[in-house]
This record gives sequence, C-alpha cells and structure tokens, in this order.
Amino acid sequence: MDKIKTGINELDKMIGGFPVGKTVLVTGDAGSGKTIFGLQFANISCKEGKKAVYISTEESPDDLRQQGKSFGWDFGSLEKKGLMEFIELAGNRAQEIATALDISFDGAKGNFEDLLDHIPADTNILIIDSLGNRTANLTQHEFRDRIDLLVYKLNKRGITTLVILDSTTSRQFHDIALFSVYGAIQLQKKENPYTGRRERVMDIVKMRNTKTPIQLLTYEINTGGIVISSPIDSSGFD
Ligand SMILES: Nc1ncnc2c1ncn2[C@@H]1O[C@H](COP(=O)(O)OP(=O)(O)OP(=O)(O)O)[C@@H](O)[C@H]1O
Ligand SMILES: [Mg+2]
Repeated sequence: MDKIKTGINELDKMIGGFPVGKTVLVTGDAGSGKTIFGLQFANISCKEGKKAVYISTEESPDDLRQQGKSFGWDFGSLEKKGLMEFIELAGNRAQEIATALDISFDGAKGNFEDLLDHIPADTNILIIDSLGNRTANLTQHEFRDRIDLLVYKLNKRGITTLVILDSTTSRQFHDIALFSVYGAIQLQKKENPYTGRRERVMDIVKMRNTKTPIQLLTYEINTGGIVISSPIDSSGFD
C-alpha cells in the first residue's frame, strides 16, 4: 500500500506514513495539538509536491499561517505556488455556505458530503479542522451515514484526509466515527504516574493494514512542531 509522510519523523518510521487515499480520524482535547498535527501534515505534503487543502471552521487562514510560521512552515509561499489552500468555513461565510448547502436537505443539519464541493479537483491532501460545527443535531445513525458517505467519496477521489473532531463531537460520536475511518489517532494530556508530570501522549487507536505501536507515544510540541519523544522499539508493536 502506498504511504505518505505524516511530517512526524518517528511516526513515519513506525507506521510508514498515512495510507494514500484513506481517511484518518484525529481526536483530542482542546489544546492537545490537533491543528498543529494537521498543519504539519499539510506542510510536509506540499514539500513532497502534493496539493493540500485545509478546511478550517475555527481559525482564520491568517491565524493558521501565523501558527505555521512559529514552526518555520511558510504556508504563504506554498499558497503562491498553488500547493496549499486554506478554506475558511467560519463566521458569516460558514452561515452563507451552510444555508446554501443545507437548504435542500435540512436547515438544521449538516451534510458533510457538501464539504467536497469546495475543494479543487486536483486536491491530494485534505484536512478538515474540525467536523464539529455541523453535527450538533445529528442522531448517531445520521452521523454514521454522513461520515460513511464522506469517507467513501474521499476514497473514490483518492484524497488522503485527516478528519479532526472537536472534543464535544468526539464525546458524542467518537465510537461511530472509528468504524468508518481507516485509521484513528488520539492526542491526550496525561499525568505520568512515575514522574507525576503531565505529558502529551499520542494513541494510534487503529491503522488498518499497518503494524501499529500498542504503547502510548509521548510527544512534545517544540520549535519544529510535533516530535515524538519516546520512540519505541519493535517490541512495542501489537
Ligand atoms: N510555537 C509553538 N511552540 C510550542 N508549542 C506551541 C506553539 N504553538 C502552540 N503550541 C502549543 O500547542 C497547543 C495548541 O495546539 P493546537 O492549536 O494544535 O491544539 P488543538 O488540539 O487544535 O486545540 P483546539 O481544540 O483548541 O483546536 C498550545 O496550547 C500550545 O501549548
Ligand atoms: Mg485546533
């Protein structure tokens, strides 16, 4: 299976990258690093010559460019080269788009599939950050149907996708979303019982067709972005 770099070196060594054309779910509490994870993947993908689209529902493209800059990722110039595109689904524009999209469907309920109408045909990489604001009124069944359809369409278009769920949506739909996607990664902040210090840990919950570490991976966010700080040897694989 073809893989594409995640942008996190140790993770690439362990799992070989993300499976091309598949959808991976990224969940985690506020401030756990989901957006940075997404930006880091977008940046490396562009560096590899892929076209990346970042749909943001919470932060403006300017804020995201700024966040990227703090890690040395120059999204501005990648945008100029046509490799990177930010799409903001926030504020008024989100309202307009949502209204235009959902009107034939259900005014109160989001339809994820419509997200795809917004992305260019030559997109290789997609990051949806996050899926939260379109799910508030969905039942478990409806959510499952929508995410299944979204994953199916993305797969058909061969787009490698990170779907970030915000913590509220995650609490409501995490288990359902897990079934539909090819892989899932959870970012957490946890207290280390031995040191009593809080650490950032990454759980590779699943990655189909891939040998995955069963241990939690400790990571840090430093000047280069997310770095795994407790790489494990092969005995840590399930
Ligand atoms: N330049 C930086 N250097 C080091 N750490 C940083 C830097 N920028 C942000 N951080 C850390 O990353 C955290 C935020 O990461 P991020 O925005 O990716 O989280 P998130 O999971 O997307 O949060 P939210 O749920 O609010 O969207 C900050 O709280 C901060 O601790
Ligand atoms: Mg975020």
